[in-house]
Amino acid sequence: IDESNFETRPPVVTIMGHVDHGKTSLLDKIRSSKIASAEAGGITQHISAYTIKQNNQKITFVDTPGHAAFSAMRARGASVTDIVIIVVAADDGVKQQTEEVISHAKESGCPIIVAVNKIDKEAANMDMVKSQMAEREMTPVDWGGEIEFIGVSAKTGEGIDDLLENILLQSEILELKADPNAKAKATVVESSLEKGRGPVATVIVQNGELKVGDNVVCDTTFGRVKAITNDLGKPVKSLGLSETGSILGLNEVPDAGTVMVAQDSDKEAREIATKRAEHARAKELSKSTKVSLE
Ligand code: GTP
Ligand code: NA
Ligand code: MG
Repeated sequence: IDESNFETRPPVVTIMGHVDHGKTSLLDKIRSSKIASAEAGGITQHISAYTIKQNNQKITFVDTPGHAAFSAMRARGASVTDIVIIVVAADDGVKQQTEEVISHAKESGCPIIVAVNKIDKEAANMDMVKSQMAEREMTPVDWGGEIEFIGVSAKTGEGIDDLLENILLQSEILELKADPNAKAKATVVESSLEKGRGPVATVIVQNGELKVGDNVVCDTTFGRVKAITNDLGKPVKSLGLSETGSILGLNEVPDAGTVMVAQDSDKEAREIATKRAEHARAKELSKSTKVSLE
């Protein structure tokens, strides 16, 4: 591959951790302190991914739920991710979903940063968290290991700049590059059927530029991108590398984790999706035939 036209792209960072350890609060705090308040005020819909700027460098974050029922989503989340942040509440320590995300994070091979949240609390105990994590082969740098532990508070904002600087440092080491002129490719991180809007897919662009008017295929779904709303809820004409937004115009709701790819024509997009759908149906049918014969 000729990589001479590649550009450095912003890192995609996924936040994982046990339920109620403060993932969403942390992201909300980062967002509100890093985006002009006039813009932030416009955010109403639930968005699980967005891009912020730290010292003029972009970072895209993906939030994940901590509930046990969402483990499949966490596993998928890990696949679009460049860097994993494991959030551990300083007063609660390592819990069941923390253990689960440690193994997802290790499997992903991504660099891991541990954000020890709620350090504003009376019962916060950084050493407890560090030793619990060290027991699980997540030894802190200051204990001779390789994992950065950063104390943060989603409540006061303490430690957040430190966390962001650390993310940018890791990102530099990774030398993330992609081709801005390639066929657009984006991963669906969230999807739904919305009243009056139809199928909506929240995506992160991994290659190229996704534009209004693009003919796309996403697994067995296809369509022409009718509108794009960015992570601030504003209509935009396109999304660039590592940027995130919601796409309208698909014929069905694609599954989270599937990959959207731009095609040369609507005919091509329709053909690919239809073939895949037929293939999937045939597979289902052979499965159910087998079951009924048994
Ligand atoms: P799930 O998405 O349900 O897994 O939870 P979460 O990890 O996103 O946690 P969430 O942001 O919903 O926070 C859970 C609770 O902890 C809320 O009541 C927050 O206000 C509180 N909380 C989060 N961060 C902090 C913090 O830094 N300090 C204090 N004191 N409370 C916090
Ligand atoms: Na919560
Ligand atoms: Mg949350």
